[in-house]
Amino acid sequence: MPASSPEAFPMDPKSNSEAPQKTSPAEIKYFFDSAPPLRDGADIRSGSARRVVCLTSGGTTVPLEQRCVRYIDNFSSGHRGAASTEYTITAPYFAVLYSSRLSAFDEIASGSCQPYCRSLPDDPLLKCFEPIDDSNVQVRQSYSQAVKMAINEHNAAVEGGHLLKLPYTTIFEYLQILRLIATSMSSLGQNAMFYLAAAVSDFYVPWESMALHKIQSASGPLDMSLAQVPKMLLVLRKEWAPSAFCVSFKLETDSKILLAKANMALQKYEMHAVVANELLTRKEEVTVVTSSGNITVHRDKSVADADVESPLIKLLVERHSAYIADLDL
Ligand code: PMT
Repeated sequence: MPASSPEAFPMDPKSNSEAPQKTSPAEIKYFFDSAPPLRDGADIRSGSARRVVCLTSGGTTVPLEQRCVRYIDNFSSGHRGAASTEYTITAPYFAVLYSSRLSAFDEIASGSCQPYCRSLPDDPLLKCFEPIDDSNVQVRQSYSQAVKMAINEHNAAVEGGHLLKLPYTTIFEYLQILRLIATSMSSLGQNAMFYLAAAVSDFYVPWESMALHKIQSASGPLDMSLAQVPKMLLVLRKEWAPSAFCVSFKLETDSKILLAKANMALQKYEMHAVVANELLTRKEEVTVVTSSGNITVHRDKSVADADVESPLIKLLVERHSAYIADLDL
């Protein structure tokens, strides 16, 4: 019998009675010391098996009527979020909660680019398939590889529990989903990461002051005042998920003010990193602004189809790992 086994310690005098048995710290130590090592122990300790990223993508809409016919839109193709989702799933993250823009109207297919579909053409149904007789269609030879890969990789991610899609359309839906995800993920502590690439409306019409029906043009020019959407980044940091690693984005069209604005966001909203990008060059390079300095990452032009999201996600995963390691000390 090993010296550290429970029998080596005095037995609890009440051990034969009906009273609940008190477990000594030595018994607990013995149990864990002598248990066979857990197969995924290293992953769980490093947090990688439990890491979850909430990744937002696409642009929010601001409806002008409750029974919406018209809306104000925010620019975003969703490419950044779709590519980032694919790279994040192959990084040591357990799951990606992917909140992306749906079309504003149910009848239109999708409002933003989706993971694993980036290499497909704009009208995939019309371009990738052809009828072969009255009742059958087939994938065109030129698209067969791309279609097969898209379906296989997407299904593997969803069925493996690595990808959960949570679509939104309006600013109301986006912020409610973000709050719901954030408060649910707060129990993950520092293993949670937020990657907020969605282009979020700064102005909106409050639901209660919004017209119910289609605004009539016969009433003359439209004069409407928009309220400011509250910035939720500090609330996310302070209340919804205070231990999570938070990355926000800053988009500008004037490169002269970009870094200053990103720095301001870093400090004001206490982000762990702000990804600064300029509209025209956003697919070529981005600058990750942090309190320890800025790092610019570029698309590798020597590799066909390379994109900037690959080095960006690699860098942020490293930063998140360092953040977890620092808090564990
Ligand atoms: O989709 P693509 O075409 O590939 O383009 C990618 C992108 C340019 C849209 C993306 O890289 C990007 O920069 N997204 C953020 C754009 C944006 O809304 O920037 P902003 O300066 O308005 O907001 C900055 C941050 O504040 C954002 O992380 C946003 O989530 C947050 N925000 C904004 C408004 C608001 N009311 N509340 C917020 O929390």
